[in-house]
Amino acid sequence: MSKVDVLLGLQWGDEGKGKIVDVLTPHYDVIARFQGGPNAGHTLEFNGIKHVLHIIPSGIFHKDKLNVIGNGVLIEPAIFNDEVEALRQKNVEPIDNLFISKKAHLILPSHRLLDAANEQAKGNAKIGSTLKGIGPAYTDKIARTGIRVGDILEFDFREKYQLLKFQHIQIAKMLKFDVDSFRIGDLTLDQYEVKWMEALETLRKFNLINSEYFINQCLKDGKKVLAEGAQGSMLDIDFGSYPFVTSSSTITAGVCSGLGVAPSSIGRVMGITKAYCTRVGAGPFPTELFDSTGRTLCEIGHEYGATTGRSRRCGWIDMPALQYACMLNGVTDLIVTKPDVMDDFDEVKMCVSYTINGKETQEIPFEFNEVEIHPNLISFEGWKQHLNQATKYAELPEKLRKYLQEIEHRTGVNIMAVSVSPDRKDVLFK
Ligand code: GDP
Ligand code: IMO
Ligand code: MG
Repeated sequence: MSKVDVLLGLQWGDEGKGKIVDVLTPHYDVIARFQGGPNAGHTLEFNGIKHVLHIIPSGIFHKDKLNVIGNGVLIEPAIFNDEVEALRQKNVEPIDNLFISKKAHLILPSHRLLDAANEQAKGNAKIGSTLKGIGPAYTDKIARTGIRVGDILEFDFREKYQLLKFQHIQIAKMLKFDVDSFRIGDLTLDQYEVKWMEALETLRKFNLINSEYFINQCLKDGKKVLAEGAQGSMLDIDFGSYPFVTSSSTITAGVCSGLGVAPSSIGRVMGITKAYCTRVGAGPFPTELFDSTGRTLCEIGHEYGATTGRSRRCGWIDMPALQYACMLNGVTDLIVTKPDVMDDFDEVKMCVSYTINGKETQEIPFEFNEVEIHPNLISFEGWKQHLNQATKYAELPEKLRKYLQEIEHRTGVNIMAVSVSPDRKDVLFK
């Protein structure tokens, strides 16, 4: 009986999960997404080409590997269809090596309407959602009113759809949202619905399965399964900076409910962190830099959202947040990405604690959003060397290794690999 290894983000998302899953895929038989939906944007680069995946697992470029979209994921058929088309244009045919859980919930066009209505109703307190319908679709799941992938095969699908859509429009109107002016891209709700309905045809052609049986059988057969996370631990619905979070369990616990595997089936937990920190959307970010250093991180790191194109907020690495994420996830191995973005820095800083109301702490406070947090920083000398010249971990500059050792020391977790460019080939395993 083998175990499910897990790979997930330890910060506010965009740590480089897609790239690392792609790099690790040769070591696995099955890659399975367990939560989130098209709010995710996972970038992979190889042979000079860049690919962005939203719903499809990042193992899809390896023909001989199976990919599973688990029950915990949300599927928006029109986005899924676009993603499949984009793969086909790159001569990647996913129909045979992508299985989809019948229990995964659907995002309806009217969930996207509600997402926009909710954000508008929040005014200044808006979350900065990707507006892909994530919150409203998970709300329907928990309220037991959602529609699942398996339902598209049933005779009463249209009826269920119409009823739910009607309810959504009523709620949007109650929120004083202008439904008629609402657009997805440049399409009205009704126009987008046509595209969405057509896309169901694509979805119906895929292997729609009870993926919990499939994955557990794989484990029984000794196959190696990698669970791919989306978002990051600090966006987790329970432990993130609520309410500035996403609507799913982004931590290891989410793997069990999002794929249907027992806690005792979890093997290694690989946690990814950038060598600095980013966040897109609203919410607390104690180490955020508002100066030229922050802008340099954004420019050199190309910190623009893979899903929305918004510029990401940037700052120094936040050890209290990282320690928290390692604790919640039971991280066994760390992967650090993007130190190369700081190659030209004279100095690199690390937040090791917070001062809140005059008291120093390493704990993420309940009042994370309300209190003023002063980050206590320690400083490291910059390595001033181009990291993409290193071919092995041991060749990394001494000054960077000192910085990495400090991360290991403060989290109590070993670093298994460091990534030094967007390309698949530039991952140095220790
Ligand atoms: P994900 O959501 O965690 O998969 O991450 P994203 O794809 O949203 O964002 C990560 C960005 O950093 C992408 O543009 C990647 O191509 C890029 N990237 C990943 N690893 C590295 C790295 O080690 N160095 C640099 N410079 N870029 C990287
Ligand atoms: P990946 O998988 C970064 C953020 C949004 C917003 C909040 C809620 O690429 O790391 P939602 O659309 O879920 O209602 O948005 O969460 N967010 C992400 N930030 N990376 C992501 O995914 C994200 N998915 C959601 O910006 O602040
Ligand atoms: Mg991303």
